[in-house]
Amino acid sequence: MNVLAIETSCDETAAAVFTTERVVLASVVASQTELHRAFGGVVPEIASRAHVRAVLPVVDEALARANLTLAEIGVVAVHSTPGLVGSLVVGVSVAKMLSVALGVPLIAVNHVAGHIYACRLAAGRDIYPCLGLVVSGGHTALFDCPEPLTLKLLGTTRDDAAGEAFDKVAALLGLAQPGGPAVEVAARGGDAKAFAFPRAFAHDARLEFSFSGLKTAVLYAAYGQDASRAAEPPAGKRLADLAASFQAAVVDALALKCKQALKLTGHARLAVGGGVIANGSLRATLTDVCAKLGAELIVPPLALCTDNAAMAALAVEKIARGEFALPDLDAEPSFI
Ligand code: KG4
Ligand code: ZN
Repeated sequence: MNVLAIETSCDETAAAVFTTERVVLASVVASQTELHRAFGGVVPEIASRAHVRAVLPVVDEALARANLTLAEIGVVAVHSTPGLVGSLVVGVSVAKMLSVALGVPLIAVNHVAGHIYACRLAAGRDIYPCLGLVVSGGHTALFDCPEPLTLKLLGTTRDDAAGEAFDKVAALLGLAQPGGPAVEVAARGGDAKAFAFPRAFAHDARLEFSFSGLKTAVLYAAYGQDASRAAEPPAGKRLADLAASFQAAVVDALALKCKQALKLTGHARLAVGGGVIANGSLRATLTDVCAKLGAELIVPPLALCTDNAAMAALAVEKIARGEFALPDLDAEPSFI
């Protein structure tokens, strides 16, 4: 059976078609990055309006690429939580409308559980139980995942998400958005030990993260204690050192908590999702952490790490259990 899935939780409008055997027939992602670039972050109202414009063409494109018509869709799935409520509402409304119009069941999928499930899709085999790490612009959290549909939160960030910290630090260093790739490029050739930036909870067993103090530390290091933003942004070796030292602080914090969580849970696999895992230094460090603990690191190809609708193939697990959503399904901004 063919499943049509929709994702509109943040700033990507996405649709995918996959079979209940988890074969992805098409996955289309329309990014809104350009619309938000000038604002240094996602503007919720702009995001939801852009989803309204993009969602039906994106669904049509996914069907066309899968070489299917709506009549051949047997289930409609949608990421209904977590995310920006005005954005989620667009996908949920369209999914409900299609489910009623086609007379097919509706499945509600948790977007964060979907990020972990992208690892299951990429691996092509069962990966549960596992430790799940989701690191994106909106999330930084560790989960104990006994099976695909159960996420037990082990710890999350008290303030900024890791990707958000990359974006904010890029902005204050005068780099382009999205900040993660820009900071990674700027960090090349920099000395990661040039600035001793803080690693929150480093001497603590709590599986928590905090990146806002780090961001302030970078601001002061770049512009002085009075943080005079009128000053020219750092350049050359100084910029490289700042970027490399910041990146190392984020990577260290993430790696340490993964290590602690692997030891705590005894899991033999670490499944990672979210756009921040595009970072080469984070990948290398997590590879090292897992190798030392004899654990397997599962990182899907980048297109499955960043927001997409193929990861809603988690719906297949719900179909198997008959866990269908009712027509009163609502968007839920927070699930924790
Ligand atoms: O999962 P994702 O595509 O989308 C949402 O969060 O909605 O993640 C995007 C985040 C952004 O904050 C971006 O700066 C970050 O992932 N990112 C990176 C890198 N590439 C993307 N962070 C660090 N290093 C990178 N190479
Ligand atoms: Zn996401």
